[in-house]
Amino acid sequence: MLTVHTVEALRAQLARWREAGETLALVPTMGNLHEGHLSLVRRARSEAQRVVVSIFVNPLQFGPSEDFDRYPRTLDEDQQRLRGVGCDLVFAPTVSEMYPGGRSGITRVSVPGLGEQLEGEFRPGFFDGVATVVNILFNCVQPQLAVFGEKDYQQLLVIRRMVAELQLPIRVIGEPTAREPDGLALSSRNQYLSAEERRLAPTLHRALQAVAERLRSGARDYAGLQQEAQRYLEAQGFKPQYVAIREPQRLEPPSPTARDWVILVAAHLGRTRLIDNLVLSL
Ligand code: PAF
Repeated sequence: MLTVHTVEALRAQLARWREAGETLALVPTMGNLHEGHLSLVRRARSEAQRVVVSIFVNPLQFGPSEDFDRYPRTLDEDQQRLRGVGCDLVFAPTVSEMYPGGRSGITRVSVPGLGEQLEGEFRPGFFDGVATVVNILFNCVQPQLAVFGEKDYQQLLVIRRMVAELQLPIRVIGEPTAREPDGLALSSRNQYLSAEERRLAPTLHRALQAVAERLRSGARDYAGLQQEAQRYLEAQGFKPQYVAIREPQRLEPPSPTARDWVILVAAHLGRTRLIDNLVLSL
């Protein structure tokens, strides 16, 4: 497994594989890799002959009061983990390598509508930052396919739409969320939780399951179900930002006759912001 830090070195290596006719998959990450990321790499490995993993904590997608500075950077450990799952090349650029002209005034990719609600409402500019960096990574690597986690459900939809509308010849694969045995979705941010918060954290997933159960048994008062789940989370010590029941493709409000939904949640537990979702089809 190779690690490169510059676009030039990345392109030189990729050219060799392309000349040999090998197919290429990209798994974009911000590092601090856990089992969830490794499952994305395994999926990429099963779909393509060469797998590139990018590790880049992207400043463009963090708000001024968010955790860019304290986001864990663990390149050595990440490289160790990636060796065991069939990654061929790690691309770990610096901020100036990715944004050589600086970040202010940079060309941005925006996915209006879809990218402005839910996460986009509570984290303004987040999806512009994600779409922009993913587009740059796609341009640098030019993979045939890319794998993203369904844990970031809205992000996956934003990227799918960007790829479709910019006519990028890339197949986007969504991989199911990896969970702890108690249901907590794996996330690099889980390590910010205190012992007591970690004990409470799976409540988020349980709240989603409770909403799903109510939908299964015929409840269709979406606003009421959302409120009920928010109140439950508040009572458990969370500060919910949203619990939203949406249709799963465009995240629009579902009709009363819908049979498919995604339930999305974002909530603070202490200083940690957690997100999760559950897709339900009857
Ligand atoms: O999901 C993430 O880790 C990031 O948002 C991504 C897709 C790597 C872009 O920085």
